[in-house]
Amino acid sequence: MDTHKTEITQQLYKYMLANSVKEEDALLQKIRHASQQTDGAQLLITKEQVQFLQMLIRISGTQEILEIGTFTGYSAVAFVQALPKTGHVTTIDRINKFPEVQKLWAPVLSQITPIVRPAIEVMPELIDDRRNFDLIFIDADKGNYLNYVNYGYNLIPKGGLIIIDNVFMLGGVATDSERPRYVNMRHFNQSIYNDERFDISIIPIGDGMTLLRKK
Ligand SMILES: C[S@@+](CC[C@H](N)C(=O)[O-])C[C@H]1O[C@@H](n2cnc3c(N)ncnc32)[C@H](O)[C@@H]1O
Repeated sequence: MDTHKTEITQQLYKYMLANSVKEEDALLQKIRHASQQTDGAQLLITKEQVQFLQMLIRISGTQEILEIGTFTGYSAVAFVQALPKTGHVTTIDRINKFPEVQKLWAPVLSQITPIVRPAIEVMPELIDDRRNFDLIFIDADKGNYLNYVNYGYNLIPKGGLIIIDNVFMLGGVATDSERPRYVNMRHFNQSIYNDERFDISIIPIGDGMTLLRKK
């Protein structure tokens, strides 16, 4: 198998960030700062992921987004900012641990529907309700990733996108480590690579994001 044309060293990654990542707008900055005061500061997607996903939302004409893994709503608010005024984000989390941070959503609240329940229970109900989304972003419990992709398949049209975060597990997937979390993610990555229902691409920003397009 070919290796990367250009090795992505930390130095090169920093160069890429310095030449592509813009200042966040005030609302996202506020939510990022407030999130960083919580015990899950490292859970947010990165600024380069935000820009990439916002670009994708804009160029794909996405209207309806389903997110699995709300946390403080940083990514959900970023998605709304890239949507047209008629667009909407439904975001699921099993807990609402930081309601005070979520108060910051106020300027975009009419375009976000939070659902506070386990996603594995909610997704089959969304299918029963014949809900449809253009894009599904999966950023929650890794052990359920395959289930989320399988349910997600039934919630998007042909050409719809499923995007999965943390597929590199901070590099652990490409080591010999037998830690269950790495073994599980390797199994997931292999399974969706072999899944002929989707076109696939992995984008090596943040902790690695897989893009699946329903054929
Ligand atoms: C990495 S954080 C999401 C970060 C968010 N997408 C962002 O970038 O702003 C993962 C979230 O998934 C949630 N989660 C974990 N297990 C879940 C489950 N079974 N169903 C729904 N949400 C779950 C956690 O509570 C946590 O808030």
